Amino acid sequence: MSLSGFFLIIFLLVHLGVNLSLFAGRESFNAASHFMGHNPLIQLMQYVLAAGFITHIAMGMILEWKNKKARPIRYAKNNAAASAGWASRNMIVTGVLILLFLILHIKDFFVEIKFGHVPDDYELVTQLFKNPLYVVVYVIAFILLGIHLSHGFQSAFTSVGARSPKYLPLVKKTGILFSYLIALGFSVIAIYFYFN
Ligand code: HEM
Repeated sequence: MSLSGFFLIIFLLVHLGVNLSLFAGRESFNAASHFMGHNPLIQLMQYVLAAGFITHIAMGMILEWKNKKARPIRYAKNNAAASAGWASRNMIVTGVLILLFLILHIKDFFVEIKFGHVPDDYELVTQLFKNPLYVVVYVIAFILLGIHLSHGFQSAFTSVGARSPKYLPLVKKTGILFSYLIALGFSVIAIYFYFN
């Protein structure tokens, strides 16, 4: 789970970086998007990315199922909130909702660019964000992604051993910063292109 999580964290950084070029204008974004869509190495990475997503989702579901099986009868008095935050107790909920977002996103962006008749990538992105409902759905998905990452980031690090008292506070702080960066960075794009 943690290795596929690390990989997806890197993907999110690259994807946000490419998307921020939208602010540099049509030509810059189309060039960046064209590079991502046609560079042979990146084409190869798309299969690795798909495998990364599938592994992460499948492992998450197996983990949830194992946790449920380990305690078929619920505690009479459940004080889970005292030992774990909302984000960590609801990783499966935020994960499934992000998966629904991803299906919509792949259909409207990836499939449309590959097989549709869009004039150019910049036009597609900016037109989709003219719809207020679309922007609301996207921003909710980005907030859920931020919540998922606020636990997922530190969990990925602690799973590979970074749990010593020396590093843990730094890992936790970086995780929170990263989740804000991702949720805010993607949201700003959607909101900006609604108004502009
Ligand atoms: C403002 C927010 C976003 C915009 C404008 C955006 C834009 C795009 C575009 C234009 C593509 C097609 C690229 C191509 O095939 O040439 C794409 C693909 C994709 N996006 Fe996004 N995206 C956003 C947020 C996200 C988020 C938050 C995730 C993950 C949770 C994500 C995951 C993906 C995936 C998996 C693909 C397919 C693989 C790829 O082409 O890189 N996107 N996105």
